[in-house]
Amino acid sequence: MNRTCYNTDLSLKDEGREVSLVGWVSKKRNLGALQFIDLRDRSGIIQITVQEGVSVPDVRNEYVIRVEGTVHKKDVPNKALKTGEIEVLAKKIEVFSKANPTPLIIADDTDALEDVRLKYRYLDLRRPVMRHNLEKRAQIVKAAHQYFDENGFIEVETPCLTLSTPEGARDYIVPSRVSHGCFYALPQSPQLFKQLLMIGGFERYYQIARCFRDEDLRQDRQPEFTQIDLEMSFLDQDEILTIMEGFLKKVFKETVNFDLKLPLRRLPYKEAVDVYGSDKPDTRFEMHLIEVTDVLKKTEFSGYQSAESIKALVVPGVAPVTSRKVIDNLTLEAKKFGFGGIGVYKVNNGTVESSLAKFMNEEQMKEFVALTKAKDGDLILVLAGKHDPVCFALGALRSKYAHELGYVKPNTYDLLWVVDFPLFEKDIHDGSYKPLHHPFTRPTPETAQYLDSDPSKVLSAAYDIVINGYEAGGGSLRIYDQDMQKKIFNILGFTNEDIARKFGYFVKAFQYGTPPHGGIAFGLERLSMIICGTDNIRDVIAFPKNLKATCPMSNAPEPVDEAQLKDVGIKIAEE
Ligand code: AMO
Repeated sequence: MNRTCYNTDLSLKDEGREVSLVGWVSKKRNLGALQFIDLRDRSGIIQITVQEGVSVPDVRNEYVIRVEGTVHKKDVPNKALKTGEIEVLAKKIEVFSKANPTPLIIADDTDALEDVRLKYRYLDLRRPVMRHNLEKRAQIVKAAHQYFDENGFIEVETPCLTLSTPEGARDYIVPSRVSHGCFYALPQSPQLFKQLLMIGGFERYYQIARCFRDEDLRQDRQPEFTQIDLEMSFLDQDEILTIMEGFLKKVFKETVNFDLKLPLRRLPYKEAVDVYGSDKPDTRFEMHLIEVTDVLKKTEFSGYQSAESIKALVVPGVAPVTSRKVIDNLTLEAKKFGFGGIGVYKVNNGTVESSLAKFMNEEQMKEFVALTKAKDGDLILVLAGKHDPVCFALGALRSKYAHELGYVKPNTYDLLWVVDFPLFEKDIHDGSYKPLHHPFTRPTPETAQYLDSDPSKVLSAAYDIVINGYEAGGGSLRIYDQDMQKKIFNILGFTNEDIARKFGYFVKAFQYGTPPHGGIAFGLERLSMIICGTDNIRDVIAFPKNLKATCPMSNAPEPVDEAQLKDVGIKIAEE
């Protein structure tokens, strides 16, 4: 092709150089005798100038062309372009292929609807911001390969056609042609295989692993996503977290030139919920939840009397703009979380104005304001009820207000470990226990004694890495003692039959010498989102699914031929 270089490799020092460039026509302007073409390649844009008398073929936007010409200093530099000090005076232009008018504007600022962008993803990928995002993602993967290789990890691939893996979502299942009526499950994670690799003596494993989960989608969730997945033997929790911190330091340095201060903070789950109202707190801003149970129980409002917990959130300076309508909306938010209403108090002259103020005497008001440290003009929001729902609902309001008030500065990164999770979650309806992480997570030695008497008191040796309010990864030390594993299965309500059917091969492996082990998986897309500063997971995936788990470009999923169904012994039932 005789291409000399990428567009943005050229600069003033190349003045006079003969070059051959390739790329797409980003923009074309005709100024009488002169024609200007913005030529875009992977690196960026350079201006091509066609002078009077030079004969070139007609080109339009998105034509793919090759240009031969001479680098020339521009009289008036274009500061918006990296190559703005120069232009290439064209001698010859060759058209490789023509292009129809595109259904979306190929520029960072596009007003195209996301489904249009996904339908024409190959055009959307021409937008520099998309390429930038995918380059950053690739840098994270490269850092992972380098770091884990240097630290003695062996990369091993594990199967995609497997049995159900216990991460709590629905499985994507694949019918077998050879064994009619039997199905593979796509892995929700390589969890069981990586533990088997530890039993297999690998000691340090990693994989950039594809995972599949059929769950309700959100801005930070895809049905098909990627984990940087790790497992290690003979290391304790501190040793594992230290190795992982080294990886995160490398990633943040190499992708966004940000220096992480190590070791990262370790915040117990209980404190995260109490203080931030979240198990993945955004710690870039304060707005701590305040315990006001004792003070408000003294007031005469009946809604506070029977509450297990009463908590307050102070929102600075918004009292004057909190209209009736805003209060109605806050009430709606509270109702979404199952509360009858929310206490809204405006602070003025050291006391409070509120529809609930009539239940307080002056001394109680002053005590309340002093406890919350609220100032005149601040708003105090109060929820009363069961402890955890109170915290989580106020945590959601904390996050909403912080974003609205601009407390969240762009390009800042706040990382912490959340540790000491409860091992189990108790179902409020039937009282049954579910694992908060997965059933192979080890209880902490200090709390394992409660397994028989009160499982809800047992904490786990699990840890989540939380960055800017996202759960970017999670892992745990695993159970390696067969009796302990059986006990946990029993508490979870698995019968011996269930265990044999679901994890028989796995449990069997534990009978042949299991090293103490533990691991973690980082969500590659979540890390990429944070590094790229986007809150949309689809912006860091080349060909993602939309929120309905379909691909607007290929239309997947689609019905298949009758013959294919017959092959796998499946008949579609009439609706
Ligand atoms: P977990 O289920 O917490 O742990 O997943 C680890 C990380 O994977 C990311 N993640 C997702 N990213 C995008 N879309 C999804 N649907 C999605 N689901 C999860 C998150 C999450 O923190 N086997 C364990 C890990 C271990 O114990 O070693 C596991 O999969 O960033």
